[in-house]
Amino acid sequence: MTFEPTIIAFLCNWCSYAGADLAGVSRFSYPTSIRAIRVMCSGRVDPALVLEAFINGADGVFVMGCHLGDCHYLIGNFYAQRKIKMLKKLIALTGLEPERLRLEWVSASEGARFAELVKDFTNQMKALGPSPVAGEKPDPNILENLLAAKAAVEDFRLRVLVGREGEMVDEGNVYGEKVSQEEFDEIMDEAIAAEYIRNKMYIMLKKVPQSVKELSKRLNIDPRNVLRHIVILRQRGMVAMAKVEGTTPLWAALEVGGR
Ligand code: FES
Repeated sequence: MTFEPTIIAFLCNWCSYAGADLAGVSRFSYPTSIRAIRVMCSGRVDPALVLEAFINGADGVFVMGCHLGDCHYLIGNFYAQRKIKMLKKLIALTGLEPERLRLEWVSASEGARFAELVKDFTNQMKALGPSPVAGEKPDPNILENLLAAKAAVEDFRLRVLVGREGEMVDEGNVYGEKVSQEEFDEIMDEAIAAEYIRNKMYIMLKKVPQSVKELSKRLNIDPRNVLRHIVILRQRGMVAMAKVEGTTPLWAALEVGGR
């Protein structure tokens, strides 16, 4: 039996959803792989919802909005662009293919384009195969990684950075100081990697208290970096020393914010 992907599509009400409607009215055929969710603007698609879709077994997530310059809320789709850029980098760290997430612009008059894009993305997902976390036996490691990624985007730190990209790169601060796009991307990449690994460590420590050495071995990162993250998690009130075995402290996760 051929694999039929499940694709969650977030469609902006004003353009892409109308484009999908036009595709239907015009009788353009396209695969039934998509499950459309209407949102008021592509900028309203929360990164946590995208990760939630993958955690629940979606093979792909398609976000569609108005063309740049046509957003009914002026700059919503620019925000969408930045969020998807950040999400793709984060997803790449989890072991899931970032190509499973796609952003495109479709206007209300582009029914044919809508149908073509759905066909193209469906074929792309067919070529990639089922998501490793879909089905009855999801890959436990990738699933845990996706949960860590979701926790990272639910926190305010990455959100603030995404929200300030335009201001930092295009407008500058009150003194007119700007950072270049390359500098900003570097800051963002570091923040994504750090927040992802901290949330991964938090999830691991929730299961069983562990030492820095054990975490370092399991995560394949330098023990000095693990210790730096532990210090930050401790400052945030997320971890505490559970006990000392011999001379080695074991760290455990604390209950925070319902987690
Ligand atoms: Fe369509 Fe913002 S209103 S992308």
